[in-house]
Amino acid sequence: METVLITGGTGLIGRNLIKMLTGNGYAVSILSTSGKKVAGCRTYSWNPASGIIDEKAVADADHIIHLAGANIGAKKWTTARKKEIVNSRVKSGELLFEAFQKHPGKLKTFITASATGYYGAITSEKIFTEDSSPAGDFLGETCRRWEETADLFKKAGTRTVKIRTGMVLDSNEGALARLLMPMKLHIGSALGNGAQYMPWIHLDDICRIYLKAIEDSTLEGAYNAVAPQHVTNEEFTSTVAQVTGRTLWFPKVPAFALKAMFGEMAAIILEGSRVSSEKIIKAGFSFRFPELKPALENILRYKAEN
Ligand SMILES: NC(=O)c1ccc[n+]([C@@H]2O[C@H](COP(=O)([O-])OP(=O)(O)OC[C@H]3O[C@@H](n4cnc5c(N)ncnc54)[C@H](OP(=O)(O)O)[C@@H]3O)[C@@H](O)[C@H]2O)c1
Repeated sequence: METVLITGGTGLIGRNLIKMLTGNGYAVSILSTSGKKVAGCRTYSWNPASGIIDEKAVADADHIIHLAGANIGAKKWTTARKKEIVNSRVKSGELLFEAFQKHPGKLKTFITASATGYYGAITSEKIFTEDSSPAGDFLGETCRRWEETADLFKKAGTRTVKIRTGMVLDSNEGALARLLMPMKLHIGSALGNGAQYMPWIHLDDICRIYLKAIEDSTLEGAYNAVAPQHVTNEEFTSTVAQVTGRTLWFPKVPAFALKAMFGEMAAIILEGSRVSSEKIIKAGFSFRFPELKPALENILRYKAEN
């Protein structure tokens, strides 16, 4: 039985990925800063900020999935928070690499999360592909450095995959959950001018992409993990309203109000471009939820039933 080590495995993607991996016959262990337990897997502890890691976790792993990172949408981007966002991804990756150097031999694959923020907080009609350059803004620079850490493993000869993820749809956590709240109160509306694109992916599809990254040894390098259907914020909001049976009564939330509320972080909701899913599809991945409406219906029905 192969062992998959997941960092940040107690988060939204990690918890669901663990279920998928154990269901597919893998042993799963996690490296956790909080020490939270997840059913069905062994928890090792680490503290990347202090350079502490239980090296046994890395020594025993056939595959590593590096999901850890301070949540980019949870708190205002103060200087300290920005530092935490970067270090929790980059320093943690470097710490994994140091442990790997001491215990090489077993590891077959290193897979890292990255984000469509790689291409920057830009609104345009351009469709970004994996060959597009990273943006020079905060998220672009964060993703570039995050991916560079993964390249340490590549240079050491380990197969390395980088998953540039769009907004992951779930009804309990993340961006959709935040959007559903005003919708339930009948005060939902589009944000800014509503023309910004929102690259998105169903939670089940992102976990299936990670599984493919482990099992398909032809995957190497960066892959965008976004559904093929491109939607603007206005289209996204009206589809959510349709699926939840709400009417959009209110005008769009003006950009200045969001900037006043969220500061620089508002860029992640006010800007966005189209991102291509062609490369992962050409690699043989088939999206279970390529279109937004059925994806939302599935997520919201699941919530109603559970
Ligand atoms: N969800 C999305 O829409 C989305 C979109 C694009 C990219 N991504 C990226 O994919 C990865 C996983 O996403 P997710 O939604 O599952 O994230 P999440 O729910 O925020 O969970 C991330 C996990 O990282 C660990 N963590 C938090 N702060 C940390 C810190 N300061 N240092 C080290 N570890 C820390 C925590 O695990 P422990 O408490 O166990 O340590 C946490 O459960 C993240 O890196 C995220 O940026 C997610």
